[in-house]
Amino acid sequence: MADINNKYELFKQKLSKIADVNAATAVLNWDQEVFMPGKGASLRAQQNATLNGIAHELSTDTELGELLYELNDANSLDSIQKANIKETLRIYNERKKYNTSFVVELSKTVSESFIAWQEAKRKSDFEIFLPLLSSLVDLKKKECELLGYDDHPYDALLNQFEPGLKTNKVSTVFSRLHDQLIPVTKKITEAKQPVADFLFAQYDKNKQWDFSLSLLKQLNYDFERGRQDISTHPFTTSFNANDVRITTRINENDVFEMIGSSIHECGHALYEQGLPVSDYGLPSGEFLSLAIHESQSRLWENNVGRSLPFWKYNFPILKNIFSEQLKNVSVNDFYAAINCVKPSFIRTSADELTYHLHILIRFELERDLFEGKISVSDLKQEWNKKYKDYLGLQVTDDALGILQDVHWSHGMFGYFPTYSLGSMYAAQFFFTAKSEIKNIDGEMERGNTAPLLEWLRIKIHKHGKTFSADDLCLSVTGSELNIDYFMNYIIEKYANLYSLNLK
Ligand code: CO
Repeated sequence: MADINNKYELFKQKLSKIADVNAATAVLNWDQEVFMPGKGASLRAQQNATLNGIAHELSTDTELGELLYELNDANSLDSIQKANIKETLRIYNERKKYNTSFVVELSKTVSESFIAWQEAKRKSDFEIFLPLLSSLVDLKKKECELLGYDDHPYDALLNQFEPGLKTNKVSTVFSRLHDQLIPVTKKITEAKQPVADFLFAQYDKNKQWDFSLSLLKQLNYDFERGRQDISTHPFTTSFNANDVRITTRINENDVFEMIGSSIHECGHALYEQGLPVSDYGLPSGEFLSLAIHESQSRLWENNVGRSLPFWKYNFPILKNIFSEQLKNVSVNDFYAAINCVKPSFIRTSADELTYHLHILIRFELERDLFEGKISVSDLKQEWNKKYKDYLGLQVTDDALGILQDVHWSHGMFGYFPTYSLGSMYAAQFFFTAKSEIKNIDGEMERGNTAPLLEWLRIKIHKHGKTFSADDLCLSVTGSELNIDYFMNYIIEKYANLYSLNLK
């Protein structure tokens, strides 16, 4: 017993050390996005590579492996300790599958691909990116074989972001998006559109910044354990649960850009601030998966931050700050404007509904690519065809089409589906929260979202990564992920907004 306890302590120390190195990398990355002068980039890349190397060595250390196998066989550990050992062992074994020459080749190809992608995007010419993308996809196919899979090579890639997720499951869920969301989008697009031009008037940057800080406080983001800064691409980073930082960006001619992104990152940060700090470095102190992380950001951004009750409280505050720009605008006008549906080329600026068609397209292409159904040289044509079929858009510019996202240049295949799954989990969680928390809308109308946060803390945040996503969803909502919750939420919301029958 005592022996096992000592060994578990040793395991905790080893994981804490790995977390220290990773946190140092995260600080460097945060600095790079927020403060670092341009010329710092080349040595910063070296510093990051060194730290990543150290973290990799520590986490594939044979001594750690032996300790994990020994603890995995011990009967005296409690359920959380067992979950920590099981998950760390799983990751350890995944990492052990890589040989050094593969890792070096992959990271070299990723660096070259990223440079080629940047140039290709600047010149809006996919041909510049194509040869490197081709090599990268070949390497990722090798990686699938290296990692192994049961049904589909793409499973191995999904598993890196969403442990246990299968291609077949994503295909089933996304075929519903295909069959239901496309006709719904078409009906809405053909309906009368609300006036939204007031959102794009001139909004002073400093006043927007102050408003976003007050929103974050209202949502119970803890400024004693975090801060907000400005960056080109908004993101959240955590060094530990007591230091969780977010960034936002401000567009003087689009007031909701900052509001939406601040609330989104706040949702990510509330999750990270809600993880048990005493479990620093352990799976039980870490976020569960990317889809669950995204469920938190999207729940706050969309289910809360684009809802009428939320704006019943906040619109008068906003209107007080921007009285000129919002002179003849009512809360209902504002609510309709921020939920306007319009098919567009760029995923990151898409509305809450058509967003998922962008993801559907990327998923279908990735799946078909790794299945060998299409090749890299077919990608552009397939991309453009799907944008025409699903969104009714004729892509004429590669930069606004296949080159828009950075993910593929980083070799991140299997990442995109987690965004849409996040929205689906969010809908299911929010539905359950509404049935369990008394008068959630009424509280929101008074600017009180604390009961919702408390519910998320207890149901989701404090458990860290001691469940699988399936088990978490089952324990929180009583069923596994079910896309009906998302479809019902979408249909009810937009049928009301557009006075349409969408069933
Ligand atoms: Co996010």
